[in-house]
Amino acid sequence: MSRTFIIAVDGPSGVGKSTVSKLVAKELGYQYVDTGAMYRAFAVGVKEAGIDIKSEEALNAFIDSVKIELTGNGEKVLLNGRDVSKVIREPWAGELTSKVSAISPVREFLVSLQREIGASSEGIVMEGRDIGTVVFPEAEVKIFLTASSEVRAKRRHKEFLGKETEGVGSVGSVEADLNARDERDTKRADSPLKAADDAVIIDTGELDIDGVVHKALDVVRKRKEREG
Ligand code: DC
Repeated sequence: MSRTFIIAVDGPSGVGKSTVSKLVAKELGYQYVDTGAMYRAFAVGVKEAGIDIKSEEALNAFIDSVKIELTGNGEKVLLNGRDVSKVIREPWAGELTSKVSAISPVREFLVSLQREIGASSEGIVMEGRDIGTVVFPEAEVKIFLTASSEVRAKRRHKEFLGKETEGVGSVGSVEADLNARDERDTKRADSPLKAADDAVIIDTGELDIDGVVHKALDVVRKRKEREG
């Protein structure tokens, strides 16, 4: 079997990674993997189990026992067999995830799961923060999405309201949360959020969704043409 064709989509919170990645995967008939959902499910599990994230021992024991799976072509995430797709989207879960995802053993655990998933399909669109830099540095296509924090906060706020998510504040407070998370994600020592040197950068504040998807598919098409 030939190697999996991997499309890595990275970028900060609220930049439109999920929307774009899902549409690109659908168009190509590829598997969609949301690695943020995996980190989020892990963080929810940590909270539910009452784990002190400063205790390396407790965290390692949790890593050894927890099971995280994606089903329904990436639409659902299971924590020890239970569907946690809704609760992982609550603002507190996003906050905690940003802290938990800075811990190296957590990243090692989830990165190895992501590589396993990547090895098992024909084509994959994987979204996250470190896919093009760490998880699959050899990915065939790397896209890095960007947009101002104002654009991203407005988008995320609208999304929360549409989904009737609990605990949502004003657009300003959503923007402050996004900035705090971006700061942590960008400054952490292990796998910080950054564009790979060979990533194609697309500003999602300048184009509508169709425009972004079109541009991403164009990058894929050119890469496939080069492969012959
Ligand atoms: O994409 P998201 O908002 O669902 O991600 C939630 C958090 O998980 C975010 O603060 C950064 C972290 N994350 C990460 O560190 N590495 C990834 N590959 C994906 C997400």
